[in-house]
Amino acid sequence: MKLATVFAAAAFAVLALGATAVVAQQDPIAARKALMKGNNDNARNVTGMIRGNAAFDAAIVNAAFDQWAETAKKLPGLFPDSSKTGGETRAMPKIWDNKKDFDDKATAFGKAAADNRAKAVESLDGLKAAIAVVGKTCDNCHEDYRAPRQ
Ligand code: HEC
Repeated sequence: MKLATVFAAAAFAVLALGATAVVAQQDPIAARKALMKGNNDNARNVTGMIRGNAAFDAAIVNAAFDQWAETAKKLPGLFPDSSKTGGETRAMPKIWDNKKDFDDKATAFGKAAADNRAKAVESLDGLKAAIAVVGKTCDNCHEDYRAPRQ
């Protein structure tokens, strides 16, 4: 292998390793959208169980709550001033005027997920009750801070 090729391969490995962190830093819009997409996929999984379209599965419920907890933790850090526009963002400008309230809503979402996890993984009835509470915290933030789909 030529020396240049070796260097290229090494550089590529470094890039691949750092990719996730770099995406969050350089493209916070893409990073927050990806988290929200995860939120939605997980919400769809559990509402499928609630509606009787899928069997109750505690492991899948648990995975949903894991992902929501992670999102709640990361969300406040994904709205730097440089990310007000671009990337077809639906984030509303008033997020940056009311950043504390926005962050509080992310915290409330994380708290609802933490407080309701135990009952959600226990039974279908518990899951129904838990999702009613957690789902409200998604809506509560979207009502104020997410623009309608274009
Ligand atoms: C603290 C505020 C907040 C909470 C809590 C929140 N979201 Fe969002 N959500 C947003 C914002 C802001 C956007 C727009 C992001 C953008 O386009 O940059 C968004 C976007 C979305 C989108 C569109 C993603 C896309 O690709 O355009 C979906 C779907 C979504 N959220 C689902 C959820 C679900 C489900 C929950 C709860 C389980 C949730 N969100 C909780 C603020 C929140």
